[in-house]
Amino acid sequence: MKSENLPIETLIQQAFCQLERSYAPYSHFHVGASLLGADGRIFTGCNVENAAYGPSNCAERTAFFSAVSQGQREFTAICIVGGPGGTVEDYCPPCGVCRQVMAEFCDPDTFQIILAKSREDYCIFTLKELLPMSFGLL
Ligand code: THU
Repeated sequence: MKSENLPIETLIQQAFCQLERSYAPYSHFHVGASLLGADGRIFTGCNVENAAYGPSNCAERTAFFSAVSQGQREFTAICIVGGPGGTVEDYCPPCGVCRQVMAEFCDPDTFQIILAKSREDYCIFTLKELLPMSFGLL
């Protein structure tokens, strides 16, 4: 799907909604994500931290794992927002682990990653731009 056909406003709004659900008592960095399935359904996620740190999960992976557990395996785009205390002042690019999870399910040339600061202020990258030469076995 070309970026001009994406429901960008809805994706940004849903990602911002997830900021309120973020569980980040250790880093206090709140992240929200909304993931657009190929069938048009939107799956959401927030970061969920843990006292042992290692078991923490990023917002993007929460959204992907929720979607896959509901039977969706093909995706068009993801929108990510985040910031300290849930205040979004900068773009929040996905971490390397989340980029690798995207590579498992998404076409690197077409999957769109929307980084938003507000409804009007966002930028879009393909997965290939953010994860060139990705590792894969399939
Ligand atoms: N975080 C995400 O949710 N997504 C990212 O791509 C980067 C980092 C979370 C993990 C942790 O809860 C907090 O942000 C600080 O690293």
